[in-house]
Amino acid sequence: MSIPPAMPLVARAAGPLRGRVRVPGDKSISHRALILGSLAVGRTTIRGLLEGEDVLRTAAALRALGADLARDADGAWVVKGLGVGGLAEPADLLDLGNSGTGARLIMGVVATHSFTTFFTGDASLRRRPMARVAEPLERIGARIVARRGGRLPLAVIGATAPMPISYALPVPSAQVKSAVLLAGLNAPGETSVIETLPTRDHSERMLRHFGASVAVEAMADGGRRIRLTGEPELIAADLAVPGDLSSAAFPVVAALLLPGSELVLEGVGVNPLRDGLFETLKAMGADLAFANERSAGGEPVADLMVRASRLKGVEIPAERAPRMIDEYPILAVAASFAQGRTIMRGLAELRVKESDRLGAIVDGLSACGADVAVEGDTLIVDGKSGLRGGATIAARLDHRIAMSFLVLGMASAQPVRIDDGATIATSFPGFVDLMNGLGAAIAADAT
Ligand code: S3P
Repeated sequence: MSIPPAMPLVARAAGPLRGRVRVPGDKSISHRALILGSLAVGRTTIRGLLEGEDVLRTAAALRALGADLARDADGAWVVKGLGVGGLAEPADLLDLGNSGTGARLIMGVVATHSFTTFFTGDASLRRRPMARVAEPLERIGARIVARRGGRLPLAVIGATAPMPISYALPVPSAQVKSAVLLAGLNAPGETSVIETLPTRDHSERMLRHFGASVAVEAMADGGRRIRLTGEPELIAADLAVPGDLSSAAFPVVAALLLPGSELVLEGVGVNPLRDGLFETLKAMGADLAFANERSAGGEPVADLMVRASRLKGVEIPAERAPRMIDEYPILAVAASFAQGRTIMRGLAELRVKESDRLGAIVDGLSACGADVAVEGDTLIVDGKSGLRGGATIAARLDHRIAMSFLVLGMASAQPVRIDDGATIATSFPGFVDLMNGLGAAIAADAT
């Protein structure tokens, strides 16, 4: 495996951000579109697919499993699926790179195919816990042989006689929920997943879009039970992938922080189980609105209008965490410029993302002169105007840490450098050009 050279970047103080742009396609939805397209009968055309490294890894893995995926001349992706249960044993290791979603969802798919699949990934993915997926997949009948701590590389020995299960998620994780549902596609009878805190429901929405029967019941305690009828015939269905709200978060927060900014971000997915950041920013005083609300491929979409705003600190309850789990690094940056204290609770899951994000946020913000502390799984940031910046931040193979600290450097007194911006391409190819096109000053920095 060749290791690409590090790509240091520096962000300097910038003037207002202005313009109308479209961010790349949603990462979560893009993975699912390729996977369900590969399991459907017929030809699925996907427009707006995120062509980031994570999603391209999923495409390569699905090709290795026998599906036919190709990019058209006009940029649409065409997937010719093999039907539920129709994948074939890959001849080599599947390398999912940096992608936890790709690895965990495809583990679910192959768990109910009667062959063996080997998985690996980059140094970040090889540190991440996979036992949370292995455990329910073993109940369905697969065997998983992993490194100590349930880590990659690992082998999934697919079930020969899969059993449907009813599984209560021990952690709120859309990846684990989706792995179980994808495994359940090739099991007879009903597979169900119970979640106490609702997590992103892209899998449920897209399974329905492809013709599967998925029932969702609200439970008395605020949780949900998702029931999938196994062995459906999935029918190829065209899809338009909305812009990624988690990518939009970076220009949105940058525009809020830079006086005089005014942006429109077109066609962003605003799934109500993903939009906790917007609710939080509005409570902080952000001038942020949705326009032109519509639906695409079963997902709500809107144009986001954002204007520079004076932010104030707020308290964010643990129950909101699943609805904004990927947005805490950039929210912590916003909080470090806000007036007063921001308290973010229930962040234990941040320890097991592409990096230990709680650690990365605290180290990075402290190095930039912010007042930040962690107490258990609570993050506390005391904001100040005129934050210093002036640090080099380790990106830790974590795209969201890299982009968050570049945004900090756009609003701080001194420039902020990140040691490696190459990781940004996993989710937001073109980030630097898009931001600079709006008025940012981010440059390569080899010093
Ligand atoms: C994702 C689910 C979340 C999120 C990740 C994408 C998905 O992870 O952090 O970036 O596409 O299902 P968890 O399931 O670990 O919470």
